[in-house]
Amino acid sequence: MTVLPSSPENLNPAKTGLLSVCVVGLGYVGMPTALLYARGGHPVLGVDINPTLVDAVNQRRIAAVYPELADWEQELLNHNQPLRAAVQPEAADVFIIAVPTPIDSQTKQCDLRAVLAATKSILPVLKSEDCVILESTVPPKTTTEIIKPLIESATGLSIGESLHLCFSPERVLPGNTTRELVENDRIIGGVTPQCTVKAKTLMQGVIQGQLLLTDAVTAEFCKLAENTYRDVNIALANELSVLADEYGVEITSARSIINHHPRVNLLQPGIGVGGHCIAVDPWFFVEASPINTRLIRTSREVNDRMPDYCAQRIIDAVSNIESPRICLLGLAYKPNIADFRESPALRIVDILKAKGYHVTTYDPFQENPEGEANIPLLELARDQDYLGILVSHTVLLEAYHRSASTLSSVMRTPLIRIF
Ligand SMILES: NC(=O)c1ccc[n+]([C@@H]2O[C@H](COP(=O)([O-])OP(=O)(O)OC[C@H]3O[C@@H](n4cnc5c(N)ncnc54)[C@H](O)[C@@H]3O)[C@@H](O)[C@H]2O)c1
Repeated sequence: MTVLPSSPENLNPAKTGLLSVCVVGLGYVGMPTALLYARGGHPVLGVDINPTLVDAVNQRRIAAVYPELADWEQELLNHNQPLRAAVQPEAADVFIIAVPTPIDSQTKQCDLRAVLAATKSILPVLKSEDCVILESTVPPKTTTEIIKPLIESATGLSIGESLHLCFSPERVLPGNTTRELVENDRIIGGVTPQCTVKAKTLMQGVIQGQLLLTDAVTAEFCKLAENTYRDVNIALANELSVLADEYGVEITSARSIINHHPRVNLLQPGIGVGGHCIAVDPWFFVEASPINTRLIRTSREVNDRMPDYCAQRIIDAVSNIESPRICLLGLAYKPNIADFRESPALRIVDILKAKGYHVTTYDPFQENPEGEANIPLLELARDQDYLGILVSHTVLLEAYHRSASTLSSVMRTPLIRIF
């Protein structure tokens, strides 16, 4: 095990000639971001309030927490790249804030506490010419109306003159983070054009995608609009799948016919929307502009209702069976990843269990972050009355197709559904 030297000189830009970077928040976004700049040769300090993550960086056990970062961690070891971590920020040229922005489950309002705490934590070490880049997804105008005055009043420095502040949203797809972090086109929205240029100077060295230069509010707007676009289109697919059920139409074959239309691309319906982005970010628009977001709000409600709807479909299917046994496969919030945050599949399981149903579950990614290849499907199905694949992990579907012909024979009642 390699333990990094923790000398503050690691952050001295004079040593490498490259800007030093302090990444605040070492989560799904911040950790790969810290590695991105370290592999570009920048001296990087990762900061997190969670000491486990700090230790993971300093003891080079990052892949144990984030398996998809194994290759980049190996590069770090091979080339002795300048990355270390601490629980408090230190002086640097650029500060990147990538902390959570959840919504309150009741009010659906953005909880900015982590962003405010992270911003306050860098104030004591901010100096003239530094650049602060906010990467956490936030409601429109947060950068200019909340973060800017907070920094200016505490430091006495003026943004655009002696300090730089940008919003630069992350667009990575969990499960594909390292490639997308490098290759995706990237929005940089400065509070002033000088701020945008400063962040561009840093990012152009490590990002191969196009850098899309704009102002901070436009950048915030675009980030929310992208995820809202996804949510609204998924809601349409889900609503049509509910209608299809009503008419006895099989939605998968209907969709393949529909998508033969040259200008239609109906998304695949599912059991709802999970994760920390698409199910959350549209609410930031609703919060900021309640009158002008009727479609956005309704789409959120349509998608949020799907787990209840799917649970009811399962209940209806087993309604004539005495003490039915239900086995549900696939629990992640989407296919092919080991990410269970806000998963609609888990919500379905909770609903059924709360109603007293006997439910067993399995996800090939729960034990093995790479996805278990040898899925004991026949064992899982044995003596069950209902087998539901909630999340179509590729390994799960492959196992299903391998044993489809024998599955029915081991089940007590052969009710099988792929959602
Ligand atoms: N995960 C994604 O795929 C993704 C994609 C695009 C945008 N985003 C946005 O990026 C932001 C971060 O998301 P994430 O998925 O990385 O979150 P995460 O929960 O995985 O990680 C956030 C980290 O920040 C740390 N933290 C919280 N408060 C802190 C503080 N005051 N100082 C230092 N560290 C602190 C937490 O301990 C945690 O390790 C969110 O706004 C999210 O909406 C995420």
